[in-house]
Amino acid sequence: MQNITIYIDDKKLEVESGKTILEVCRNNNIEILTMCHLEGVLDVGACRLCLVEIEGVNKLLSACTTKVAANMVIRTSTERIKRYQRITTELLFAERNHMCSVCVANGKCELQNLGYKVEMDSIRYPRLFPQCEVDTSHSWYVLDHNRCIMCTRCVRVCSEVEGAFNWSVKNRGYQVRIISDFNTPWGESTTCTSCGKCLHACPTGALWPKAIVQGQLDKKPEIIEELMAKRKMGL
Ligand code: SF4
Ligand code: SF4
Ligand code: FES
Repeated sequence: MQNITIYIDDKKLEVESGKTILEVCRNNNIEILTMCHLEGVLDVGACRLCLVEIEGVNKLLSACTTKVAANMVIRTSTERIKRYQRITTELLFAERNHMCSVCVANGKCELQNLGYKVEMDSIRYPRLFPQCEVDTSHSWYVLDHNRCIMCTRCVRVCSEVEGAFNWSVKNRGYQVRIISDFNTPWGESTTCTSCGKCLHACPTGALWPKAIVQGQLDKKPEIIEELMAKRKMGL
């Protein structure tokens, strides 16, 4: 790969071409907020939290899916970006039912941490309070649609890492939902291997093991990256 020059927040950097803006920022300790990005699986640009400004481009672009180009001038923390991050976070909370105090992920939730990060002290949009199912049909695990933010990290881990293809997505917009197998209860799935990788990949209290109670969720999303790195080394 050839090296190119880019500018991020007025800092001149020599970076490898072919990298995404997110990869370059993380390698250079420049903070970019993310939610759907998970090290070890492909990026899909679903959450729109990683938006950056690029000189000469009118719209904001997602850092996780945009590759660097020679002489690109990138800004990562303008007032416009901060405004969008705050709006996106509020909408994630308003869309489903997030009652942190009674959630298994309370205190260890990436969405909750995001709320603190963008200093979300209130939600300015009407909460939708949708009627969401909780699927407890699996012997060991629970899928609580109330806490799902449709990041699709579970879908990608299940297909790209485990190769089971249990999870997919049905419907669009307000009705969009994660589904198991062909929209059957998780416990009746013929594809799920019960490996538990999706539980670690999930950033919220949407996927969790039955053995735990409120506030006790302990996820390790980094195991996905470690696993993929070992596979690349043939271990
Ligand atoms: S998933 Fe996270 S943000 Fe949602 S209720 Fe649980 S702790 Fe709160
Ligand atoms: S269940 Fe979890 S990992 Fe899957 S889409 Fe919902 S929030 Fe993301
Ligand atoms: S992390 Fe880039 S769009 Fe979600």
